[in-house]
Amino acid sequence: MASAFLQCIDCGKKFPINEKRYNCDCKDLLDVRYEFGSLNAEDLKAEFLERKKSNALMNVSGVWRFRELLPFMENLENVVSMPEGNTPIFQGERSKKYAGVKHLSFKHQGLNPTGSFKDNGMTAAVSKAKELGVKTVICASTGNTSASMAAYAAKAGMKAVVLIPKGQIAFGKLSQSLDYGAETLQVDGDFDEAMELVQELALEEGIYLMNSINPFRLEGQKAIMIELMQQRDWKAPDRIVVPGGNLGNSSAFGKGLKELYDLGFIEKLPMVTIIQATGADPLYRTLVTSAKKLVPVKAHTLATAIKIGNPINWRKAVRAMDYTKGWCEEVSEQEIADAKAVIGSDGIGCEPASSTTLAGIKKLAGSEISADEDIVAILTGNLLKDPDYTINYHLNSLFEEPEVREIRAKKGKGKINPKFANPPKKVKATMQDLKKALGLA
Ligand code: F0G
Repeated sequence: MASAFLQCIDCGKKFPINEKRYNCDCKDLLDVRYEFGSLNAEDLKAEFLERKKSNALMNVSGVWRFRELLPFMENLENVVSMPEGNTPIFQGERSKKYAGVKHLSFKHQGLNPTGSFKDNGMTAAVSKAKELGVKTVICASTGNTSASMAAYAAKAGMKAVVLIPKGQIAFGKLSQSLDYGAETLQVDGDFDEAMELVQELALEEGIYLMNSINPFRLEGQKAIMIELMQQRDWKAPDRIVVPGGNLGNSSAFGKGLKELYDLGFIEKLPMVTIIQATGADPLYRTLVTSAKKLVPVKAHTLATAIKIGNPINWRKAVRAMDYTKGWCEEVSEQEIADAKAVIGSDGIGCEPASSTTLAGIKKLAGSEISADEDIVAILTGNLLKDPDYTINYHLNSLFEEPEVREIRAKKGKGKINPKFANPPKKVKATMQDLKKALGLA
């Protein structure tokens, strides 16, 4: 039987697995760690495959199917699952051509129950919360964490409180949190301010925090990598590309991949490559200036999911890049918008934060990325989360926030020039007009 504990990523101090805490006494972040004991990778691979034949919830879930690799629950009866995961891998010929690479696939986390990768993390954190007897959960969010937390809390019978930056989250996400019954507080500030407030409130009031500072969240998200490897018959790609916001996902991927490698599940470590928006690029700035501490920014991007200037997990993300010889890049609003339309034109679609991946691959192809690399990009959120952005792009009315760097440099209005616009045509309700519009008459 494996044993689990919490451990500081800096000083190494250990804490009991059931202690409700997010930071060490030295203030740094905590990992969930395990003594795995004797664990045979080949036997477990066979067992994981066998479980795909089963209809039991614990085997259907793309997180709990791999439970031996995240053994932090004392009683699996406490698991709260929708079930999540089991997200498909897509090929997109137009996307490959656009980026100039030969081997690119998309793992679409937007096809989770609430439409984003957060469900993988939330099943883990809410299950642990249930085990710890928690009655109220809370988070600050750019929209997807709140949607997911609201849904899982509803399922678990817990009260959900969400703090969202007013006017800065996509409507699809706001509607989810309202519909799933969360107490929704629109904070008159940005995500970073809401995040700071919610941490203080959680500590003062003892409410359990569900942001990615909660180490159990990242254990669930680590399963995205486990599931990906199972889907690829345990053949690791050369590179995993992921958007960077609060940097939970990239951190979870780094930890998960390292564990899979150390335990003998995969034979090499894919390079974790993190892509940020130019107006919300604190990690990129930190790396290019070789700063010892994070260089926070006031965040501005239309990709509201990653409109984050002071990411809480930055140290873990740096560790993920160190573990895997990864990379960080930034992409402009124009690049994000066009890449999103290209992913759409492949019939796949995603929200703007997710298309940073394709934009980043295109930018790095030929330099950091070689043309024949085997690359998996993680699409983090569903196209339908942010229909306003998509409609505005195709109607040629998408404007950058005036504060973003490229606008400041050009002093223009910052209109996105939609290279792949596909606007609807207006047509009178007659057969003749219809045929005319379709070029048939
Ligand atoms: N993509 C989407 C669709 C997201 O919702 C987020 C984060 C990210 C990428 C970035 O992931 O934070 O792990 O680096 N959304 C959070 C939220 C912050 O509140 O929903 P990250």
